[in-house]
Formats: sequence, C-alpha cells, structure tokens
Amino acid sequence: MGKRRGNNKQNPFAKKKRDLREKESEPARREKPYDDIVRANESFETYYKHQNICKPEEWDEFMGKLRANLPVTFRITGSKSQARALLKIIKDTFFSEYYRAVAEFRENGEDVPEPQCLGWYPNEFAWQLDLSRKDIRRSEPLYKLHNFLIAETSSGNISRQEAVSMIPPLVLGVEPQHKVLDMCAAPGSKTAQLIEALHAGGENLPTGFVMANDIDNNRCYMLVHQAKRLSSPCCVVTNADSSNFPNLKLKTESGEMQTLKYDRILCDVPCSGDGTMRKNPDIWTKWNLQHACNLHGLQYRIVRRGAELLEVGGKLVYSTCSLNPIENEAVLHYLLTQTGDAMEIVDASHLLPSLKHNPGITYWEPATKDMKFYKTFDEVPQMYHTIIRPQMFPPAPEDVAKFNLEKCIRVMPHQQNTGGFFIALLEKKKPLPWETSEAETTKEADAKKQDDEEPARKKPRYRRGFKEDPFVFFDGQEDIFDSIKDFYKLNDAFEPKNLLTRCKEGKKKNIYFCSEILRHVITNNEERIKFINLGVKSFARCDNRNMECDFRLAQEGLPSVIGFLGPDRQLSIGRDDLVRLLSNNDPTRPPEISTLSEETQNSVQKLGPGSCVLKYDEDDLQLDIVGWRGTKSLRAYVDQHDTVHMLRLLGADVSKYEKNKFEAKKEAEAEKETNKDEADDDVTEDVTQAEENGEKAVVAEVKEESKDTEAVKEEAKEESKDAAAVTDEVKEESKDEDVKMESENDVKVESS
Ligand SMILES: C[S@@+](CC[C@H](N)C(=O)[O-])C[C@H]1O[C@@H](n2cnc3c(N)ncnc32)[C@H](O)[C@@H]1O
Repeated sequence: MGKRRGNNKQNPFAKKKRDLREKESEPARREKPYDDIVRANESFETYYKHQNICKPEEWDEFMGKLRANLPVTFRITGSKSQARALLKIIKDTFFSEYYRAVAEFRENGEDVPEPQCLGWYPNEFAWQLDLSRKDIRRSEPLYKLHNFLIAETSSGNISRQEAVSMIPPLVLGVEPQHKVLDMCAAPGSKTAQLIEALHAGGENLPTGFVMANDIDNNRCYMLVHQAKRLSSPCCVVTNADSSNFPNLKLKTESGEMQTLKYDRILCDVPCSGDGTMRKNPDIWTKWNLQHACNLHGLQYRIVRRGAELLEVGGKLVYSTCSLNPIENEAVLHYLLTQTGDAMEIVDASHLLPSLKHNPGITYWEPATKDMKFYKTFDEVPQMYHTIIRPQMFPPAPEDVAKFNLEKCIRVMPHQQNTGGFFIALLEKKKPLPWETSEAETTKEADAKKQDDEEPARKKPRYRRGFKEDPFVFFDGQEDIFDSIKDFYKLNDAFEPKNLLTRCKEGKKKNIYFCSEILRHVITNNEERIKFINLGVKSFARCDNRNMECDFRLAQEGLPSVIGFLGPDRQLSIGRDDLVRLLSNNDPTRPPEISTLSEETQNSVQKLGPGSCVLKYDEDDLQLDIVGWRGTKSLRAYVDQHDTVHMLRLLGADVSKYEKNKFEAKKEAEAEKETNKDEADDDVTEDVTQAEENGEKAVVAEVKEESKDTEAVKEEAKEESKDAAAVTDEVKEESKDEDVKMESENDVKVESS
C-alpha cells in the first residue's frame, strides 16, 4: 500500500504538535505590557480555595498581595571578605540616599518606610525595600539607587534575588568539605549562595565543591556568569538531564574508583511558577492546572535521581516556586512511598528563625481543568487517566503520620510581603531499597564489567549545544609553570597540576586554577558528562619586554592563589595612594612612582618591574589588588566594576561613574527633536537607510522605540541579562579567552 496523497484531512494530533512546535520556536514575547494585565483568574481562586492552602480569614489578604508588585530585595554576598564593610556603607550611605530619593519619588511627603532587614537571613545581609523593580528602573529620582545595585551586582558583591528564593540554600546547610550538586541550577542565584556557603570557612580553599547542572545548554552560560562573579575555583558547571544524571566516578583515598555520591543536593525543579505571579504577572493569564499535572512526573524523576545520588547521611532540599500540592507534597509523598524509610522529611523551620510560613498540607484533591475534584483515583474518568495519575493522590488518613508532610515549608505571599515558595528538607537515612548491598554489588559489578569490556569512548555521548574547548590540565612539566613559580616565588604547596588551559596547542593565553578534587572529577569523567566550565583565571599572558615572566596575575584568581605567593611580588599601600591608582583612568598616563607617598615609594623600590599585588590593610578593611609596577609608574590592574566597588569601600568619590540614564535619554530625545525639525521624514529615511545598511539590530531598536513600548522594553532588557546576552558574552569569553578589558590593559601595559 502506497502513501496516501492529496488527503486534505489533517491529523489533529499532528497539527497540535506542529502548532506547539511553531509556537515554541517563536521568540518568547510577553503578550501584554505588565500594566495591562488583569490580575485575576477564577480557576486559580477556585482551585486553591478548594485545596485550603490558606486560612479562609486570610484569603483576601493573600489575593491582595498576589496582585501587588513585588518589593525589591537584595543580599550581600557573604563569602567576600569585604561584606561587613559593604553592609556599613549600605546602612550609612545607601539608605540615606534611599530615604531622600523615595521621598522625592513619592512626591506626597508621606513617611518613607524603613528598609526591612530579612531577620531569618544571617548577619543582616539580606534587605527588602518598599519599591518594586519597576519603580527602581523607571524613576529618575531613584537612579542612584539603581546604579548602586547594578554596579555592586556586577562586581559580585551583592545579589538581587527574590527573598523566598534565598531560603533553599540556607536550609541545605552547605559546609566547606561538602560535595554539592545543584541539579537544576540556572540562572544560578541559588548556586551563588551554595558557592558562598562552601567558602564560608574563610581563606582556606574548601575541600568540597559545587557542581551546578542544567539541562539547557544556553542557560548553563548564565551559571558560568554567576560562578565568575564569585571567583570560585571550587565550582564546575555541567550540562545534563538531571532525571537521568550519570554516575560519575571518583577515586577514594585508597585508590579505588567509586561512584561519586553527594553530601548536599539542591533539587530546585522546573515548576508551573504560580508563586512568582507578583514578579511575572503574565502567569495570571496563562495559569491552568494541566501545567502542574504535566510537570509532576519530571519533578518526581529528578528528585528520585537526587535521592539515588545522595550519600547516606546526606541532605537534599526539594523546592519549587509553585503553590500547587501536585508539584510539591504529592511529588514527595510518591518519593517516600518508593523509598520506604530510607528518605525522611525533616524539620527545617528552626533554621529560619522568624520566617513566617505554613506547614505542608497532608490532604489535597487532584482536579481537571474544568475544576472537577477527585478524592480517589477510582473516581477519575478513564479519559483523564493520562493527566491525573494514581501517584498524585494524598496519603490515606491512617498513613499521614508516616510521611511528615507537615514538616514541609510553605511561604505565602501575604505572610511577609514576598512571592510564594515551597521548601522541604530531606535526609537519607540508609541506602534506598534498590540500593541494598546485594543490588549495589551486582550493579557495580555489571558496571565494572562494562568498563573493562568497553574501552573509554573516543567521543563523548553528548552532542547538542555549544562545543566547548577542551580542559587541558598541566602535567607538572611545563616550562611556563617554572617561570611563573620562579617569578612569583610560589611555595611548594602549590600543585601545578591544578592549573589548566582551554587550548591543546599554540600559545597558552589564560591559565585557570581549580581545586584538587575538581581536577579529579573532571579528569575521571570527561566521557560521562558534558562539562561546561570550571576554574578561575589566575594568570594571563602579557608579553611585555620589561617582564621576566610572560604571565601577569589576574584579579579574578588572586584570592585563590595569593596564599601561595612569596612576599617578593607584594607591596603594601596606603589609602590615598590606592585611591589615586584606582581613580586613574587614563591608561597612557599612570601615576608616577615619584608622586606617591614616601612609604609606597620605598616599598616599590624593592620590587622589579612587572605584575604585583597591592596590599591594603587599614581600618578593618583588607584589599588585595593586582597591580603593575612599570619602570616609572605604578597602576592598579582591575576592571571598572571592581574599581568602583573598591573606591566605594575606601570612602572615595565615585560620582564620575554615576550615569543618569534619564538625562542621557532626554539629551538624545532633544537631539532627535532638532533633527526632526530639519527633516520631516527622517525616521522613515533613517530606518530605510539603516535597513539598507544591514543594521537590522539598530532598526529593531528604533522601531521598537517608536512603538512607545518603553515599559516592556525596559523590563525585557533588564531581564535579558538573561540567556541571550549573558550566554553570548560568556561563550565568547570562554571561546577565545580574550576579555576585552584584558587586551585593552595589555596595550596599556605595553605602552608603559
Ligand atoms: C526553577 S528553575 C531553577 C532556578 C535556579 N535554581 C535558580 O535559583 O536560579 C528550573 C531549571 O531547571 C532546568 N531544567 C528543566 N528540566 C531539567 C532537567 N530534566 N534536568 C536539569 N535541569 C532541568 C531549567 O532549564 C531551569 O533552568
């Protein structure tokens, strides 16, 4: 029988699939500007009222808060040694500017609400302002606050993160020796917290690591960006499906290869996200129950794999930004029915003193889109059996006590003016039923047999996504290491094998440093999983005729290597001299040594030309900065974000870095007006001309602007610090390893 031709009847399933595919391939666009979205959804209310997720007397308050914009929150990056100094500046300077600016912004002279310290977050490091993201972005009186937040975020010293999203990593309790897996990590705000916790031990390099994984190759580069901001040599980014995360191998101390198990696992799974309606109001229009039901299976498979990868005695946090029990308690209930008494939900509320929350719920009723609720699976009509599954139902009343579901944490938006969130802390008490020693032994033996029979694959299994450059570790024989060791007087504790480059052949440009354990993880598993990134740039090529060594220090990696440097390339510097060095932004005219203080001049005299460390230690503030000693000059060798941050900590004037984007926009508009007077049809012509010139991107901007969708554009721009922008930037960087600032600086150095 041949193929039927000319049949106009379309298969409705195929059509639906095609439509969906087409829709997916369209760039994500917000359907309406946020201000036009009606913040109401009848099904949403019916469903959640029925599930009793909130006391009836609190319902109106709950809905009221859900409809309001979300206040801005941020936290100070705890692992940075300057965190305390930054907190002081925030309390003294930033908050005074906040009071002044908000009074001007509100115009009606009403009292400006105090910034709220989030009491459950340690060290007064997290704050909430009575302003929405939109207020901060679009109001001229607040531009200095906005600039401050952007600049300190870029230098990795604060994180603008939703309050509730800070909770899961806190509950997980990461310590420096832990092997940590973040299963669904992008864009990475929680990964950042995990890295900070890993480094909380101070100067010593942690013996553990954070493995940040995401299935989405593009989003993985957002993780690279996060890791770079924190300059950790103990973080690795991987790209895999967590529900099927591979067993990685690591040698034990006795030299035996074993499956790598993790001490801490974060399962912040993909979810319907209805707890984020305040931040993403378009969820009001899109919300439907099918979404949650569709995700339940994936969420279960991810957390189940997490439980398998967890070390006995280890802890796992399961979290979502969904309010739906189908994505929360139902997933965990199913896990617990499968894992018996091996996994247990444990109490975590004492870890979050003063956080108001509801307990997890122990009874719910799955429903269909048309709001028909079912008490048991037997009641569910056959046609819904693929949507509502038996495992979505709650425990029988007599079994409720077995599961501790009430120990889960539900944060409701009205309790402390946040988004909604669900968090559960689980402990692995013993091997899972299918990990019994007998089963394990057979599985291990099978795996070993397979390993023995099957030589390591030449080509890794993964294929999709951006092709990474290789990770080429030093073998301890490199000449360039000898010259680095000699010049910087690295002590013998420094292990050259922990250095790597990203090119097999040719001149090595940047040299990265990673922790010992991560080197072992990478070298033993490159065939098993796609590694995207690891290591911090610690030395960068700098072919300068005045330099004995071809590599200069890189600011990003300095905290990791400074403990190994001898005193010869370090000099102390006082405040005024350091401010002068940092404030100089004419690369052709760095400060002359002869114009610096006598103390600095004396220290510099002992130092030959080349890369060095400028050490500042006064008034409880320590700064280590990469510098360059020229024949006659001395300069600081840091990028603009770090420069502004350090100047701020030193109490220096940073006003020259303040940009008022509103002023700039007004000037641009005034200029446009003038041009308009000169030529009536300039816009059309400009656009046509630009189009002819192939300046498509510019045209899109101009067109977009003229649609007067400023609001949407602003939002989109801000948010697209996300995938596209960050991804391209980071990919570019990791590809040719040549950051713009670097090459600029190299030119500066050449000219010195
Ligand atoms: C809720 S977001 C994670 C947010 C992140 N933890 C944070 O704090 O920034 C869910 C992430 O899971 C990823 N994801 C979805 N399915 C996955 C899978 N099967 N394996 C790994 N990651 C997955 C998505 O790409 C998305 O980045």
